[in-house]
Amino acid sequence: MSSTNFDHFSSNYKELLDRSVALSGEGSEYFAEYKASYIARMVGKDFRGKILDYGCGVGLLSGLLKKYLPGSSIHGYDVSEGSIRMIAPELSVQGVFSSDLSRLHYDYELAIISNVMHHVPRNDRQQTILQIERRLAHRGRLVLFEHNPLNPLTQWVVKHCPFDDDAILLRPKEAGQYFQKAKLAIARRDYVVFFPRVLSVFRSLEPMLRWLPAGGQYALIGEKHGE
Ligand SMILES: C[S@@+](CC[C@H](N)C(=O)[O-])C[C@H]1O[C@@H](n2cnc3c(N)ncnc32)[C@H](O)[C@@H]1O
Repeated sequence: MSSTNFDHFSSNYKELLDRSVALSGEGSEYFAEYKASYIARMVGKDFRGKILDYGCGVGLLSGLLKKYLPGSSIHGYDVSEGSIRMIAPELSVQGVFSSDLSRLHYDYELAIISNVMHHVPRNDRQQTILQIERRLAHRGRLVLFEHNPLNPLTQWVVKHCPFDDDAILLRPKEAGQYFQKAKLAIARRDYVVFFPRVLSVFRSLEPMLRWLPAGGQYALIGEKHGE
């Protein structure tokens, strides 16, 4: 369970997030689009599989995944029923979007958990990753995006974000331990989103900096091998 109840933020989630990340010179859309295009590069734009967006909230990332991977089908799960109710109808007709875990499938080729784990109490984090692993197809991949606790701008954003009161950030090492215990082989770890808008001229260098623990966020990718 999460201690922040996102039902209270579902009607203006995007607006609150836009305000929180304003220091970067970008809006919430920039960060969601960054992740969707990162995933599209990883799986290829012709990917036609089934994707689970775990902790999908109001569907900001789900919608962009559908845009970048139009042949895929996107499903979403979130503990916040209020957020699920805000999912755009064109998304909810093409996949399952629910607060009921039992409605999810067991053959996702790809699952994403984006900026969710820092809201999950430490004692529940391993279980959360296991819940997802269980629902992946053989060789299915899990992509975790998280705030990088070492980045000062990220720390500032989290401190001032109205729905981050409960946030306890986690380093890639902690996330990696959850993956390993869930038997997800770590295929890749990338630091991402380095430059604010004012330094956007340097953004083309970001893929080369993926090893540098200075990015605003990081991505961890694990692959399921067991049956
Ligand atoms: C910061 S929002 C991120 C939303 C979306 N993933 C994104 O990247 O824009 C965190 C979301 O995680 C959800 N959440 C928190 N704990 C959860 C849990 N244990 N299982 C599923 N969703 C959870 C919240 O309800 C909220 O919608």
